[in-house]
Amino acid sequence: MHAVAVFFYRGGPHAASARDACVAAIALGHNRVPPGPLGEIMLRTGFLPGTLPSDPMPLFEKWFLGARKDKVQPNPDAMVIATATPDGYPSARVVLCKKLIVDPGYVVFFTNYDSRKGAELAANPRAAAVLHWDALGRQVRLEGPIVRSPPAESDEYFASRALDSRIGAWASLQSQPLDSRATLLKRVAAEAARFGTSVPRPPHWGGYRLWPEVLELWIEGTFRVHDRARWNRQLEPVGDTGFKAGPWHATRIYP
Ligand SMILES: Cc1cc2nc3c(=O)[nH]c(=O)nc-3n(C[C@H](O)[C@H](O)[C@H](O)COP(=O)(O)O)c2cc1C
Repeated sequence: MHAVAVFFYRGGPHAASARDACVAAIALGHNRVPPGPLGEIMLRTGFLPGTLPSDPMPLFEKWFLGARKDKVQPNPDAMVIATATPDGYPSARVVLCKKLIVDPGYVVFFTNYDSRKGAELAANPRAAAVLHWDALGRQVRLEGPIVRSPPAESDEYFASRALDSRIGAWASLQSQPLDSRATLLKRVAAEAARFGTSVPRPPHWGGYRLWPEVLELWIEGTFRVHDRARWNRQLEPVGDTGFKAGPWHATRIYP
């Protein structure tokens, strides 16, 4: 059976004819790269497999490692993380996704536990995250509960950071009011003098593990006919530090 597709297009550098779009639709129905401009874009961005994998994490990891390796996307680790107060006021900011663990499936970022995001996560330990690799035409969305990293994970990453960044973690009262930049620089100088080159991890600084119970992979298509699928799973809390994960369920969704 052939896939039926309707293509909306606006022209531009990759403008194609309606006929191109129909040829592409038929090729997509056979899970092939279509000829013409649509095919060129698909070869650049790739596309989701016709039969969705039961577990999206290996594909997510492939995209993530590919984005790091290709070096066409500045800051491939950049991840927007959204938190919310218990009464539903959301806030979002960029952090760096420093780890992606395929099995059992979570991502890790590091921050100040006393920051605004830290306070919101303490009161409402759930988050949504987005990684967007513009140059690759790909987006990954995650939603789920968050737990703090075990201290050893935070220690290990902290020790790998540059000396200035380790001093900065002590000097910055992240998200608190600051009267002037001079005050911050004085604090940096004071912490540098206090610790020298041996800087331990501050107790208020460490990792968070975001465990997706919803994960979406998105690939840019021409004519806004993007390729999109969502996976869901159930997470059962195990102590304060993790979850027992049920199987993923995949659903292709309209773009
Ligand atoms: C590219 C980029 C990467 C960033 N990485 C981090 C990070 O890994 N951890 C962090 O705490 N803040 C990071 N920041 C700063 C945050 O966006 C934010 O300003 C800070 O965490 C305070 O947020 P909050 O007040 O909402 O808690 C990054 C900002 C940018 C633009």
